[in-house]
Amino acid sequence: MAEQQGIFGAVWDRLWINGRLATMTEAGPYGTIDPGALAISGGDLAWVGSMADLPDRPENLAHDLFDLEGRWVTPGLIDCHTHLVYGGNRAREFELRLEGASYEEIARAGGGIRSTVAATRQADEQTLYAVAAGRLEALLEEGVTTIEIKSGYGLDLANELKQLRVARRLGESHPVTVKTSFLGAHALPPEFDGDADGYINAVAAMMPEVAASGLADAVDAFCEGIGFSADQTGRVFEAARSQGLPVKLHADQLSDLGGAALAARFGALSADHLEYTNDQGIAAMAKAGTVAVLLPGAFYFLRETKLPPIESFRSAGVSMAIATDCNPGSAPVTSLLLMLNMASTLFRLTPEEALAGVTRNGARALGIADTHGTLEAGKAADFCIWDIDSPADLAYRIGFNPLVQVYRAGRAR
Ligand code: NIG
Ligand code: FE
Repeated sequence: MAEQQGIFGAVWDRLWINGRLATMTEAGPYGTIDPGALAISGGDLAWVGSMADLPDRPENLAHDLFDLEGRWVTPGLIDCHTHLVYGGNRAREFELRLEGASYEEIARAGGGIRSTVAATRQADEQTLYAVAAGRLEALLEEGVTTIEIKSGYGLDLANELKQLRVARRLGESHPVTVKTSFLGAHALPPEFDGDADGYINAVAAMMPEVAASGLADAVDAFCEGIGFSADQTGRVFEAARSQGLPVKLHADQLSDLGGAALAARFGALSADHLEYTNDQGIAAMAKAGTVAVLLPGAFYFLRETKLPPIESFRSAGVSMAIATDCNPGSAPVTSLLLMLNMASTLFRLTPEEALAGVTRNGARALGIADTHGTLEAGKAADFCIWDIDSPADLAYRIGFNPLVQVYRAGRAR
């Protein structure tokens, strides 16, 4: 991309001109400004608008001037639901499922999440960091600038904090914003066999230390037949609330336990999966402003057949986000662009809804919509420059990465 040096009186650090901006605000399809320009100062977007509104002689406006030559620009991508930090792998379980065992059967037989818990407990922090960094780097290659990372494979205080520390460290070593969630109530650890209530008490008792550590930005739980009941989940949420931590929930993935309504009752940032969510849950989410995080990779990999109630979310005005759910059991996924395609092909989201799901609505699901998720002056200078003909190409193509350049907090990666 052509670069020129600015001269006197420059107001911005850098200015990009002659772009096609998918700002992803709600102003028209993709929030498009074409032709458009954007400028950054420090780590923030300083100006975003139409070329027609840019004063003459743009070379005088910024220290560095770049010509986008008609390329598309979108906000940096946000993967708002991942279990990126874990030990081991579950390829054997994949084979068992191909031989006929179900995800739930494997979990009930002591495999599934529990086998990853054993591997994660065994792994030291450095090993966990190294394997997670590989997965993170694959996501960054496609333009991810913000990622949520959950614990949930430690299931005791020391091992949960170990996972969360690794997540924080990844955010320090890599050019990405990391938001963390404490998922202590993910599964029943073997030492609490037959005593789910006892384990929930233990999770609630961990909450003050988790909060004091500063390692968790939110609290998540798995409300499901093979996870925890609505009542148990509510107790985890009470404990989170008493520490001032926002909540989110793995809800209604394999059955309807009223998870969406429960999440909404606690003002959850998001309820995630939602294949079995009922009308009451949808209405409650709409009222509470809880984002629906859809995970087409898990739906695909588990060969689910019950679709989340997309049309009802749409008509109720529930914001829909899309994420990888990157985890070893239900979604060994490290491509957010592939999730855009799956959200469209499997869930029938429009490519625009899919892209909003990994930008504007991904930011809402993490409670950072004031600073991230759209191209608007004042927000973080997180953006991607793509070699595409239209933003729909991002959902349309499979296995192709048209990313030209990505900026995060105003810095090129
Ligand atoms: O989001 N549903 C629960 N948790 C993960 C799966 C975790 C695993 O199987 O290891 C999910 O699908
Ligand atoms: Fe998940």
